[in-house]
This record gives sequence, C-alpha cells and structure tokens, in this order.
Amino acid sequence: MTTKQNLLIIYHSKDGSTGKMASAVEQGASHPDIDIELKMMLAKDAGLEELLWADALILGTPENFGYMSGAMKDFFDRVFYPAEGKVEGLAFAMFVSAGNDGSGALSSIRRICQGFPFKEVQAPVVSQGEMSADTLESCVELGMYMAAGVESKLF
Ligand SMILES: Cc1cc2nc3c(=O)[nH]c(=O)nc-3n(C[C@H](O)[C@H](O)[C@H](O)COP(=O)(O)O)c2cc1C
Repeated sequence: MTTKQNLLIIYHSKDGSTGKMASAVEQGASHPDIDIELKMMLAKDAGLEELLWADALILGTPENFGYMSGAMKDFFDRVFYPAEGKVEGLAFAMFVSAGNDGSGALSSIRRICQGFPFKEVQAPVVSQGEMSADTLESCVELGMYMAAGVESKLF
C-alpha cells in the first residue's frame, strides 16, 4: 500500500471573500478521481505540525495594507525558524482577495517563501474587487491542479 500525498490549504479571511476562494480551492482539490489527503485550516490554527505534514501547500489571504493578512504573517512568524531545514523545496501556490491587484500580498508571501525556500509551482489566483464566477472557477482549477500535481509527485 502506498502512502497518500498530503495537500494543505491555509487561509485567512476577515470578511469572507478569501473564504469563498478557499472553499472553491478545496472543492477543486477534492476531485473524486484524485486520491490524496486534504486538509484546510485557518492560518491562526495552523502550525509547524501541519506544515511538516504537507507535501504541497496552498496559501490564501486578503491583501491588507499592501501586505498579507496579519494572521498569515503570524503563521509564518511561528513556523519559520522551527521549520528551518525541514521543508526545503515544498511546492506552493497562492490565492488573494484584494481591492487592487494583490501584488503587495503576493510579493510579501513570496519573499518569506524564498526564505524557507519553497517552490512556487502555479500562477496565483487574484480576486480584484467584486468576486466573479470566473475567479471562483480559477480557484477550483487551482485546487485541482495542485491536488493532481501532488498526487503524481509532479512537484
Ligand atoms: C484593514 C484593511 C486593509 C486593506 N488594505 C488593502 C490594500 O492594501 N490593498 C487592497 O487591494 N485591498 C485592501 N483591502 C481590501 C481587502 O483586501 C478586500 O476587501 C478583501 O476582499 C478582503 O478579504 P476578506 O473578505 O477575505 O477579508 C483592505 C481591507 C481591510 C479591511
């Protein structure tokens, strides 16, 4: 029996937009033909144990003050040094909900992820302003891609 690959979704949402994206990502990653272990958690509840469990990671945050959310930053603050040397090369992707282009949230996460270092394996999904059906569909596709990729050890 082979061990399943593990996909972890970590997100924060204050007003629900990023939460809608997270649900769509989870839906895609739960595709019935893809056989992985999937866990989705709020950033405030995620820690070193979950990070070490993951074979691939999807991070979701609103852009707040030109940066990732405080809760996502707190997650990184808590795990960065304890995870040092144990998570190198971990595949990750992002989704962001923002009023503008989300570039501040994306670049702030990328900067920290380069420190581990993690490997960004898929283009991020960014929701600008009002959430569209197309954006949510892109989130479903992101989840499916990451789940299929980790299942086949593509990353
Ligand atoms: C305190 C605060 C700061 C924000 N700062 C930014 C920002 O710098 N850039 C931006 O594009 N949107 C900004 N926004 C808008 C949020 O990113 C946007 O409303 C997002 O969809 C919220 O996601 P949520 O519903 O998951 O909390 C800010 C919102 C709040 C509440």
